[in-house]
Amino acid sequence: VKRAHTRAELRSAVRGARQAGRRIAFVPTMGFLHEGHLRLFDRAAAHDAFVIASIFVNPLQFGPGEDFEHYPRDAERDAELARGRAVDLLFTPGVGELYPSGGSRVLVVAPGLSDRLCGEFRPGHFDGVLTVVAKLFHLVEPDVAVFGQKDMQQALLIRRMVVDLDFDVEIDVAPTVREVDGLALSSRNVRLGESERRDAVALHDALQAAQSAFAGGEHDAGQLEKIALAVLARTPAVRPQYLEAVEPETLERARTARAGTVIAIAAIVGGTRLIDNHVLT
Ligand code: PAF
Repeated sequence: VKRAHTRAELRSAVRGARQAGRRIAFVPTMGFLHEGHLRLFDRAAAHDAFVIASIFVNPLQFGPGEDFEHYPRDAERDAELARGRAVDLLFTPGVGELYPSGGSRVLVVAPGLSDRLCGEFRPGHFDGVLTVVAKLFHLVEPDVAVFGQKDMQQALLIRRMVVDLDFDVEIDVAPTVREVDGLALSSRNVRLGESERRDAVALHDALQAAQSAFAGGEHDAGQLEKIALAVLARTPAVRPQYLEAVEPETLERARTARAGTVIAIAAIVGGTRLIDNHVLT
């Protein structure tokens, strides 16, 4: 796998791939790669494209007191894992490379959508995400970019940004990858202690309970939330921040659940914040 640390190196590699007639598929990540990321790489490669992955822990999307400093990082292990999959180029800029003046005065914001759900608990988070993704899209100029469904709100915001700001890129959203017991893969799972790891499965159990009730004929969205919350309450170590049934395109609270309604959840387990969601079928 080739490496680029600077924007100039990246642009030159992108030019080379274009001259060779390749399409470009892009997977932005914050590193500490796990099987979920690796599947995104596989999915990017399935677009028959030159695959570029970025690893950049973006300070702009962390609030004061959040875990920017302590976000798990392991550059060598990441490079090794990327090498084992079909990544052609790994872009690993430093903070000074993407934010030479220390930050960004101009931000991409999406009021309304970015204040809901996670945005309520992480003010400014999605401004940071959209801004860095816009920058990365300008640098990479991908034909397609792949994101994970676990970060459902992020994927929705990026799809909106691409439509509203006329980015010429297809957004491909890949299903959430789970452990055998259902826990969604996340770089932050590494922080869970043994009992926290066991407790964390309650998020998935709660989503499954909502799905079963829906399949059994319960279409009142408020009732589905109650059913899922009751399952969560069986594991007091899991403290929900939100659990909501929402409309998939607006994130407005659903009144009547239908196929496609999303049950979204964020909870704190020990000191770790976990998110997950389920699209009702
Ligand atoms: O999902 C992530 O890892 C990040 O939010 C992203 C999209 C790489 C932007 O920093």
